[in-house]
Amino acid sequence: MSDRIIFFDTTLRDGEQVPGCQLNTIEKIEVARQLEQLGVDVIEAGFPVSSPGDFNSVVEISKAVSNPIICALTRAVEADIDAAADALQYARLKRIHTGIGTSDEHIRYKFNSTREEILERAVAAVKYAVSKKVDEVEFYAEDAGRTDNEYLARVAEAAIKAGATIINIPDTTGYCLPDEFGAKIKYLMEHVDGLANGKAILSTHCHNDLGMATANTMSGILNGARQVEVTINGVGERAGNTSLEEIAMILKCHHNIPLECGINTQRITAASRLVSSLMSMPVQFNKAIVGRNAFAHSSGIHQDGVLKNTSTYEIIDPKDVGLEEGNIVMTARSGRAALRHRLTALGVKADAIAMNRIYESFLKLADKKKELTDDDILMLAGADVAAKRHVKLESLEVTTGKGVVPDATIRLNVDGESFSARSTGNGPLDASIKALKQIIRRTMTLKEMTIQALSKGSDDMCKVHMQVENDGHLYYGFGSDTDIVTASVEAYIDCINKFKPESDGKDAV
Ligand code: KIV
Ligand code: ZN
Repeated sequence: MSDRIIFFDTTLRDGEQVPGCQLNTIEKIEVARQLEQLGVDVIEAGFPVSSPGDFNSVVEISKAVSNPIICALTRAVEADIDAAADALQYARLKRIHTGIGTSDEHIRYKFNSTREEILERAVAAVKYAVSKKVDEVEFYAEDAGRTDNEYLARVAEAAIKAGATIINIPDTTGYCLPDEFGAKIKYLMEHVDGLANGKAILSTHCHNDLGMATANTMSGILNGARQVEVTINGVGERAGNTSLEEIAMILKCHHNIPLECGINTQRITAASRLVSSLMSMPVQFNKAIVGRNAFAHSSGIHQDGVLKNTSTYEIIDPKDVGLEEGNIVMTARSGRAALRHRLTALGVKADAIAMNRIYESFLKLADKKKELTDDDILMLAGADVAAKRHVKLESLEVTTGKGVVPDATIRLNVDGESFSARSTGNGPLDASIKALKQIIRRTMTLKEMTIQALSKGSDDMCKVHMQVENDGHLYYGFGSDTDIVTASVEAYIDCINKFKPESDGKDAV
């Protein structure tokens, strides 16, 4: 049996299914390039039949990266498989990932079908995918975690006979216990023809509903699975998927596990930050490996121990995940070269023109805030991407205070043209949004917002996450600034830039 674990990253498919985490094609390409540098073996780039946008993203990601295998998801439906094969046409290495629900719950309630009929549909889908002449066909038995092992073995064996070389065993509902999931993998390894001789491999795809995705994935590996399906920061449906960074670091730290992988762990922090900022999804502070506190020792006893010898309380060298010692602080005296170095370390690529723009905003921010952290720099790079959007904030002037009627004058640039408006409101944000609505005449409602300080101090950057509803859809936006109202308005505008065009194809200005 091979001693190499294949890393299959599904951040851009399962991760992107999370409400509010949708990325546009340019952002997906940026993540895919980061995943390539990280060393993932397979990128699941999307579910092409689900929307023209998803189809297009698979096409563009296929063109943008060359080392990883590009995978497209389908149901066991011919039209899905046709769309996947078409979308993969430019990929150097192509994989179709097709499958069907195999648990009794899925067979009965989702398909109103029988085990025999589902087995036939599985085989037909795999054969149809094989007929598309892609490099590899992977089969998933959805809800395998709750599927009877004997039946699951029959389905897996039939899929291998039909031409699948990877059999994915998803714990779709995150229900399994680690021992149970490991036993399932072991049972399949022992009972499915084609696994022991390496004709096909098993893959784990664990969800984290009960907080056991990483434990289940490890149990799967230790019992014979050779591919892991994971996401950066563990993003994914509901409580998320297995975190790529956790499995990669477990394999790195536990020298007694004789398994290798191609992950360049020093790129983990950059990948984590990129995904978090593009998806507007903050990483919980105590998240293993990539949380802000993952390497912070605060108690006196721990600090004392670490100062004497880091091995007392640290099992991971922060440098191994790409965290530079001391989380370097940049100031107004830092030059362009230092900024470029930090951006590269953070996984941000900027051409000369973008670099000039980012450096200019870096100097402005450094004037307002003495020390700039990595988070500040990522904000500036994110704001530079935002600057290319079709609605931009040119200026905002607000009068507010105790005993004053808040009053805002806003100037927006919409596709190159400037518009301004003024309004009062019950607070500075209300006045600003009312003024903005005089320019952007679409029905939109602010549903939710959170405001966070990036690090500390009253001069800190403020991060605003916002949810705005338009035409029955929820859009998630993000803004940052040292001014709380400007950051909020930027977040609102970020949402507007993601709105689908109106049915007549024009934006109402
Ligand atoms: O969780 C799941 O079962 C999935 C499959 C579609 C692979 O994401
Ligand atoms: Zn899933």
